[in-house]
Amino acid sequence: MTALLDIADLHAGYNAGDVLHGVSLSVEAGGFVTVIGANTAGKSTLLRCISGLVACRGSIRFNGTELVGRAAHTIPGLGIAHVPEGRHVFADMTVDENVMLGAYTARNTADLARRRAQVLEMFPRLGERLRQRAGTLSGGEQQMVVLGRALMLEPRLLLLDEPSHGLAPKVVDELHDTFVRISQTGTAILLVEQNTTLALSVATRGYVLESGRIVLAGSSAELQDNDAVRSAYLGL
Ligand SMILES: Nc1ncnc2c1ncn2[C@@H]1O[C@H](COP(=O)(O)OP(=O)(O)OP(=O)(O)O)[C@@H](O)[C@H]1O
Ligand SMILES: [Mg+2]
Repeated sequence: MTALLDIADLHAGYNAGDVLHGVSLSVEAGGFVTVIGANTAGKSTLLRCISGLVACRGSIRFNGTELVGRAAHTIPGLGIAHVPEGRHVFADMTVDENVMLGAYTARNTADLARRRAQVLEMFPRLGERLRQRAGTLSGGEQQMVVLGRALMLEPRLLLLDEPSHGLAPKVVDELHDTFVRISQTGTAILLVEQNTTLALSVATRGYVLESGRIVLAGSSAELQDNDAVRSAYLGL
């Protein structure tokens, strides 16, 4: 079976030189895959390549379409939503306005209303705060806003960049449940995380990225049992 996302021999970088050196990975339709790696391993660069935000060489095939060389603004329309690191909400806009910004691929008002209802069902707490300014929300609630905004696209693939960063442990637990629920809707997820415990507990497969190279791949259970992963990433 062909994968939904198939990345082969990807090289990318910035003025100072390449930071990805031949990355290959795949995500099956509806799959949940994580890329774990330390600071500066190149995790965000990898997601930016998929979204067309960083020039790269190699191949990124999504649903049969080659993404390398495509303009960034054409990527969301293909069904890829990217939640970048940093939980960017428009602080002076309401929760509702922030969420609705993600809906620009909606076909008509009925479609828009249906998508909004789905997102509010996923995140009831946002429904209680629709008219609240997003800047006044807690970190965990802001994470719901950016996830909700991404889901308004009804993506086939959701790219998540360090969503747990800076959140309290209890909120990270809630995030874990949220990922499970999103995954159950059939949306494929590619999650990059420094929080290896979270990543491997929620994804079914994982890759370890070190200095721009995939050094290990396997099921989450295999990676959790791997001695190198346990000592370097799980602190065991
Ligand atoms: N816009 C940029 N311009 C120049 N260099 C960059 C840029 N963004 C990232 N880099 C460099 O590329 C390398 C990989 O960065 P990247 O952000 O992809 O790593 P990361 O794995 O996401 O790290 P973190 O866990 O800290 O988010 C780093 O050495 C970083 O300094
Ligand atoms: Mg990063």
